[in-house]
Amino acid sequence: MALVSVSILNGDLARLADVAAVIGDARADMLHFDVMDGSFVDNLSFGLPVLSCLKPLVTLPVDVHLMIEDPLHFAERFVKAGADLLSFHIESRSDAGETLNAIHSLGIPAGIAVSPDTPEETVFPLLEKMQPEDFILMMTVRPGMGGQQFMPEVLKKIAHLRSRITALDMPLHIEVDGGINAETGARCRKAGADYLVAGSYVLCSDDPAEAVRSLKTPL
Ligand code: DX5
Ligand code: ZN
Repeated sequence: MALVSVSILNGDLARLADVAAVIGDARADMLHFDVMDGSFVDNLSFGLPVLSCLKPLVTLPVDVHLMIEDPLHFAERFVKAGADLLSFHIESRSDAGETLNAIHSLGIPAGIAVSPDTPEETVFPLLEKMQPEDFILMMTVRPGMGGQQFMPEVLKKIAHLRSRITALDMPLHIEVDGGINAETGARCRKAGADYLVAGSYVLCSDDPAEAVRSLKTPL
């Protein structure tokens, strides 16, 4: 069964408490919190103070996705502010092995995010350093904005990664993020993803609960 993590990026950011309530009422499994620093990606979103304010209002686990240059420098502060899962990009400036260790030592699952132009093999040497409940976040759009078109060429990367994880007999998750709806979500699940991030598909829907349900329809 896939878990659904709803991104607040395209929600009404002046009413974050209401957005969090909609996501909870829709029976999502996680709330996805996209952090952008204006350098790693050409956009700015929100960061530590917003997470600290939002956290007490959210009953779901908060899935923080760092699209920032130096995730190692900020990992501890994001965990203290309320991250329950924390992902960072393999393309960032921080050493990936050190960042993984830092997140593990803070006691939460870590995710390594891979942008569409980065070969999936880049994370293979790190898989054995990962722990159960960790995940690889395969971006299915270029990071930086919500509401973009799904990139189908990522599907074969997901399938290759899943076969590698199966061969290593590791219980790692694969999360997909960007342009996910019922149709693209099902294609990602068939390829081996089990965590689906969806932003605009859920929050721009007239029936967010139905949108979340549709992402979980048995294959
Ligand atoms: C893109 C973000 C995504 C985005 C998803 O950089 O990482 O999480 O908000 O939004 P949708 O589902 O609208 O593509
Ligand atoms: Zn994201």
